[in-house]
Amino acid sequence: MKENIKGLLFDLDGVLVDTAVYHYQAWLRLAKTMGFEFSEKQNEELKGISRMDSLDKVLGWGKVTKSDEEKLELATKKNDWYVEMINKMTADEILPGVLEFLKSTYEAGYKIALGSASKNANIILKKTNIAHFFDVIVDGNSVSKSKPDPEVFLKGAELLHLEPKECVVFEDAAAGIEAAKRGGMKAIGIGDKNILTQADKVVSGLDKLTIQDLKEL
Ligand code: BG6
Ligand code: MG
Repeated sequence: MKENIKGLLFDLDGVLVDTAVYHYQAWLRLAKTMGFEFSEKQNEELKGISRMDSLDKVLGWGKVTKSDEEKLELATKKNDWYVEMINKMTADEILPGVLEFLKSTYEAGYKIALGSASKNANIILKKTNIAHFFDVIVDGNSVSKSKPDPEVFLKGAELLHLEPKECVVFEDAAAGIEAAKRGGMKAIGIGDKNILTQADKVVSGLDKLTIQDLKEL
């Protein structure tokens, strides 16, 4: 039996908690202030990418041009609405199987890191009460290049003192799976295998995974 995997790198939004819906609501509210809307399908493209990259995409859909200063104001407005929503989160919003999977892998001795593009990761981990599972937290405040660049996961592996090939990334976004593969890690997709085509394995949620699956990667 191969037992290569020693470190687990978890994306946050859409893997541990379902915050994608709050991001969507806040971006849609912002788009509406500018007189346009966009679909949930388009929202898929915002998953995993940074706040400013998301804003550029949203403005592109509305065919709206803004100065850098205006963009900062718009991103701040969206974030204020988003933070208002995540501040009300509780442990009830942790996705199915997450607590069990974190607990069993933690107890089995895997090293655990968060690798998220979000600058709000700490608020979410605190509100949902799962921060204590993580040896290392790499978030949008500590990286300069956003997914699909591998920086966030390479930094996570380095801080865990592991080689990329000893790590597996859990991701719901195509950009995140690409980042993991570019970084030389294994990648488990959480979601649709038709979207997460580069993943080594795709499941609908962490409730469908066991430690045995990690050993077989
Ligand atoms: C990612 C989300 O986790 O974080 C993206 O999937 C989001 O949708 C990005 O844009 C940045 O988040 P935040 O909280 O810093 O605006
Ligand atoms: Mg995600």
